[in-house]
Amino acid sequence: MPSPTKPKTEPAVALDGFMELSRARVEAALDRWLPSAETEPRDLHRAMRYATLAGGKYVRPLLVYATGHAFGVAPEHLDGAACAVELIHAYSLVHDDLPAMDNDLLRRGKPSCHAAFGEAPAILTGDALQALAFHILAADPAPGIPPAQRLRMIDALARAGGSLGMAGGQAIDLAAVGHSLGLAELEDMHARKTGALIRASVLLGALAAEGLPPEALAALGDYARCIGLTFQIRDDVLDAEGDTSTLGKTSGSDRDHNKPTYATLLGVEAAKRLADELHREAVAHLRGLGAEVDLLREISAYIIRRLR
Ligand code: IPE
Ligand code: IPE
Ligand code: MG
Ligand code: MG
Ligand code: MG
Repeated sequence: MPSPTKPKTEPAVALDGFMELSRARVEAALDRWLPSAETEPRDLHRAMRYATLAGGKYVRPLLVYATGHAFGVAPEHLDGAACAVELIHAYSLVHDDLPAMDNDLLRRGKPSCHAAFGEAPAILTGDALQALAFHILAADPAPGIPPAQRLRMIDALARAGGSLGMAGGQAIDLAAVGHSLGLAELEDMHARKTGALIRASVLLGALAAEGLPPEALAALGDYARCIGLTFQIRDDVLDAEGDTSTLGKTSGSDRDHNKPTYATLLGVEAAKRLADELHREAVAHLRGLGAEVDLLREISAYIIRRLR
């Protein structure tokens, strides 16, 4: 019997518990897929595990599980996609921290991958994590996702990670160091370097559900575009006003490296207001969908208030 004081709007599944379950699921699945540190080349496998397991927030797997859950996909059919997108993300961070890119020595409260293993091994770690992601999407033995859907998922992730998505956004980011960008250019850079993988996470969860109507897929894509941009705006704000120990990465890194960000272009308060606006827009895109997407509404709210 529900308690009489329970508000009617309380979602069927609370975000905190769902986050915890998603984290545990994806960590266990990653642990199974990543080669053991006893397998040669041991240092490469150690570095791959180091860069992937423990310490991340696993927001992208959370989006895969929450979207799949909304449309009735069993979690065991989502583990492969959750791992794949997290591996691409982990690879992007290993390369992002390299001396030739952001030159950051701290990641998730520990030495970044190249600081712990060396620069060339870190490059190879990123390469191998990327390859493993696509291996999992292609070879995941979990039944329930027909081959045609699987191909669409592989394609969605490849596009999101490539030169029109994350890698392209990172190229724009590096070219922009020391330059001031206009708002439209900054939005485009953020939408690619961070938004694309966030959007792909939602799409992967949706594509795992068979027969989703195109309007639902379009609404989810619009929602995901908004939260993807918001995620990087919040990252910029936290870089400007967070502290290193909470963030687990060096605060003020963008300022020190002359990166154009929402915090520098608009100021921190206006950047926060824009994030709030985008959150409302994200939720508005879900209005045609019912209570089944409540978790996605909550995740959008979490993204603008997160402290790390
Ligand atoms: C950090 O991503 C880099 C961006 C794309 C903004 P996250 O904030 O998701 O990093 P982890 O995985 O939780 O460490
Ligand atoms: C990184 O953006 C986006 C990626 C594609 C990895 P940032 O360079 O701002 O990410 P952090 O702040 O180092 O995590
Ligand atoms: Mg960067
Ligand atoms: Mg960086
Ligand atoms: Mg940042």
